[in-house]
Amino acid sequence: MPEVDLEHCLSTALKLARQAGKMIKDAFKKKKNVTCKSSPRDLVTETDTAVEEFLFSELRKVYADHRYIGEESVSLDGEKVELTDDPTWIIDPVDGTMNFVHSFPFICVSIGLTVNKEPVVGVIYNPVLDHMYHARKGCGAFLNNQKISASGETDLSKALVIGEMGSSEIAEKRECVYHNAKTMMEKAHGFRCPGSAALNMCLVATGAGDVCYTMGIHCWDVAAGAVVCREAGAAVLDTAGGEFDLLSRRVLCASSPSLGQEVASLLHQYQPPRD
Ligand code: IPD
Ligand code: CA
Repeated sequence: MPEVDLEHCLSTALKLARQAGKMIKDAFKKKKNVTCKSSPRDLVTETDTAVEEFLFSELRKVYADHRYIGEESVSLDGEKVELTDDPTWIIDPVDGTMNFVHSFPFICVSIGLTVNKEPVVGVIYNPVLDHMYHARKGCGAFLNNQKISASGETDLSKALVIGEMGSSEIAEKRECVYHNAKTMMEKAHGFRCPGSAALNMCLVATGAGDVCYTMGIHCWDVAAGAVVCREAGAAVLDTAGGEFDLLSRRVLCASSPSLGQEVASLLHQYQPPRD
């Protein structure tokens, strides 16, 4: 496969994220057509499906030889994601679908591109707040074209930690979520759970949060955010403190490596099946 023009990929993703954002914003205040997937709390709306179809069809016109992974294109019967070294667009059409269904304005479209299995381009757009985050490997991270940086905080007692409170049908996962929330409420400066893994990562990238962690996400929730966080100088790790693995369904982002390791050592771990 010829060399990938990452600048071209980034500008295409930015243009399409804005168009997808318009679709999401137009639907945001309207009544949603909601369907349950694996459980009553695992939701999909017609907007999720329409945005994914739009993004795939537009990207395929430009990058016919690239590969594609999207949340709404993976079937529910345990189908595994196939990530190869080829350029691969990894898309979450709406991250924070539960928020979207309730018109809670913390939602985004997330577009990541991997090459050799590494996330190298990330675009995340919250159309309600008009926050456009973007990053390309080696070129920095930006919010609405202004350069952003992680805070560099190293002290947990001064850190704002962003976790997850998504209700899961799995008792083991729920116990883990409760335990970790309790620990962070006791040890961190503050603890928040806004409900979109991709935007949580962006908050760490801007320095608004100092740590975020989540277990049970999928590659489409974090592919774009991993580039944005790394380019903003944040540490991107597995929740146990090891190397981040895009298909492992766990991520921890921190303003400094030492704070990342400290939080990892305090978290109870939950390991869902790999993507
Ligand atoms: C969800 C959100 C949520 C996280 C879940 C994800 P979705 O993504 O990112 O914050 O806790 O694990 O599934 O389903 O709204 O795209
Ligand atoms: Ca989604």
